[in-house]
Amino acid sequence: MMFSNEFSLFSIALAYILGWIQLVHGQTITGIVSTDDQSKLLQDISDAPSFSSGSGDADITVDPTAVYQQMVGFGGSMTDSAALAMHNLKKANADKYNEYLKTAFTSAGGAINYLRVPIGASDFSSSAYSLDDISGDTSFNNFNISNAPSYLYSTLADIYAVNPNLKIHILPWSPPAWMKEGNTMNGGSLKSGMVDSYPTYLLKAVQGYKAKNLPVVAVSIQNEPQNSNPTYPSCTIDASTQATLAKSLRSLLDQNSLTDVKLIGYEHNWDSTSSYTIPMVEDAPNAFEGVAFHCYGGQVSETQAFSAQFPNIPMYQTECAGTPGSDWWTDVQWYADNLWSDQDTSTGMMWIFASADNGQAPFPGSNSCGDGCRGITTVTSSSVTYNQEFYSMAHYTRAFISEDGTTVGKRIGAKASNSNLNVVAYVVGDRYSLVVLNSGGSSKQTISFQGKQATHTFATGLTTLWWTGSNTSTKRMIKKRAAHHRRTTAH
Ligand SMILES: *[C@@H]1O[C@H](CO)[C@@H](O)[C@H](O)[C@H]1NC(C)=O
Ligand SMILES: *[C@@H]1O[C@H](CO)[C@@H](O)[C@H](O)[C@H]1NC(C)=O
Repeated sequence: MMFSNEFSLFSIALAYILGWIQLVHGQTITGIVSTDDQSKLLQDISDAPSFSSGSGDADITVDPTAVYQQMVGFGGSMTDSAALAMHNLKKANADKYNEYLKTAFTSAGGAINYLRVPIGASDFSSSAYSLDDISGDTSFNNFNISNAPSYLYSTLADIYAVNPNLKIHILPWSPPAWMKEGNTMNGGSLKSGMVDSYPTYLLKAVQGYKAKNLPVVAVSIQNEPQNSNPTYPSCTIDASTQATLAKSLRSLLDQNSLTDVKLIGYEHNWDSTSSYTIPMVEDAPNAFEGVAFHCYGGQVSETQAFSAQFPNIPMYQTECAGTPGSDWWTDVQWYADNLWSDQDTSTGMMWIFASADNGQAPFPGSNSCGDGCRGITTVTSSSVTYNQEFYSMAHYTRAFISEDGTTVGKRIGAKASNSNLNVVAYVVGDRYSLVVLNSGGSSKQTISFQGKQATHTFATGLTTLWWTGSNTSTKRMIKKRAAHHRRTTAH
């Protein structure tokens, strides 16, 4: 200890007094903006306001006493094809590759902290393979994590080196062909005789990531379990079978000291929330620590039936793909409204993290991406393009992840009186943030927070504002809410 106890106590007292003075006299706001015409992209705001005393009704109210879900992360999927495109850039231009990783994965850029990775081949692989292709090997003695291309793991390791807070979520597009009716990875279903042994394959995949020192935090049983397509790796697994597999995988993970790895269920469209997701979790309420949705069918509002019944099981948005050639601003608004700001979601993800030029699925004969699936970024061996998925997502990640990247915040209450605005707020430590999607022309708004007000003119586009505040009321509210329901208001 360098200082005496007296000095430490004095410093603490001084810090409290200074904090209190700052609180009552208002805080400076900083922020970033991206405009509908793309003239500003994640650009620092020059005319940021300060909070000062204010009275009367404000246009936007941030309510730190209403605390909602713990956020987890935003990102996309690292398919074999995405890793290959990135690996080719690394070989051709290592400096550009390093700059790309920093821009995408650090908090000065996109602050992406969550990647979903296929176990074995997906439609964005160049051939069909699993991590154990030896027929009948139900004890998985021939399981080999390195059946996947080495550039997949080296790319993940490079990203982890740039963002040490990275989270990896793994899941299969299909079990090994020999475990399925029809003996193919392309479509079909799991043989009923393989239900007992299949969870061991998924356990080995988690262990394989751990052995490679990659930060695996979650595993799912099956990507899109209601999709059987004969042109690419896919497999149907019904709700009750998924529940059985989940119970058994959960015990295997626990028995192998992997209690910290979450099991996330479902991984398919919004429209089967009531017919699949709810009965699946009813069958195995203790196995699932989250359920994941894709955007390709139904409306995001349909998922509220799930949060109403299981308010303590987090909901993830894990897949959605843009189409090459679509309108930038239309897409930004749609993603913000349906994915990033969904009132119940803890994660927001697009499909592939990096696509080649045309966004076509490289799996031979695959019909999975008719007009192409645009990645969050488009990468060739000489260029990187940050797409609308990247910019819109970054406005939210930079709001709920602390500036040093180590802490992920919680959603708090926010509402706007102007219906052209979609507002979301978060707290992380003592930093508060507000994300405003303004769809309706330049708009001057008063913002209220803890009894003070600030005024800011929001451009048409996305704006994220940050400031520090006192979170004592937030702490009180968390205790209170634990005994009641989780969510009452949202936009
Ligand atoms: C696992 O696969 C890799 C890559 O094909 C290979 O080099 C290695 O020998 C395999 N390991 C075993 C134990 O077969
Ligand atoms: C409040 O701030 C403290 C100190 O920064 C932090 O440890 C705590 O997690 C914060 N509470 C919430 C709800 O974020």
